[in-house]
Amino acid sequence: MKAARLIIVAGLALTGWAVAAKPGPAPAAPKPQEIVAARQAGMALSATSLNFIKGASANGMPAKNLAFAAGGLAKWAAAMPTLFAESTRAVPSRTRAEAWTNKADFTAKSTAFAEAAKALSAAAQADDKEALAAALASTGAACKGCHDSYQAPPPPPRAG
Ligand code: HEC
Repeated sequence: MKAARLIIVAGLALTGWAVAAKPGPAPAAPKPQEIVAARQAGMALSATSLNFIKGASANGMPAKNLAFAAGGLAKWAAAMPTLFAESTRAVPSRTRAEAWTNKADFTAKSTAFAEAAKALSAAAQADDKEALAAALASTGAACKGCHDSYQAPPPPPRAG
């Protein structure tokens, strides 16, 4: 009798624990506007990184000292395509509609960028100044190659 009551109490306690331990609602997925803000921020930071690597290298910084910056750019290049998610198509931005209608080409241009940035990172890690210079040129060309087709010009400054 006593044992049965104990089991019931233990059972109730466990039920309480199970309710308390139940995970809360899953965190909300980022909103399309937030994804666009993240890709614009990443783009701006990638320009900062690329310019830093170019300038520092031109000023005699050893290639290996640029490995962290180059590695960051390679990580960004690999992650970047996910921020052009289908869900962001309708959000006003400077991405041309062709980024989604010419998906295969947009993906090819993203891949070219990822490969160039990977080579940049490898060159810096290997402390290879010549390879770094070559990869800087191909990375810059990959940025421009995509912008020429898929980045709309900035809106003109507003009068007054
Ligand atoms: C595969 C295509 C692609 C590649 C590669 C690419 N970009 Fe972009 N970039 C875009 C598009 C599209 C936009 C417009 C983004 C928007 O407003 O939604 C953009 C926007 C930008 C912006 C403006 C960001 C802002 O403040 O709104 C900068 C700066 C930029 N890119 C720099 C770079 C640099 C530097 C590289 C190479 C290291 C690069 N991009 C590589 C497609 C690309």
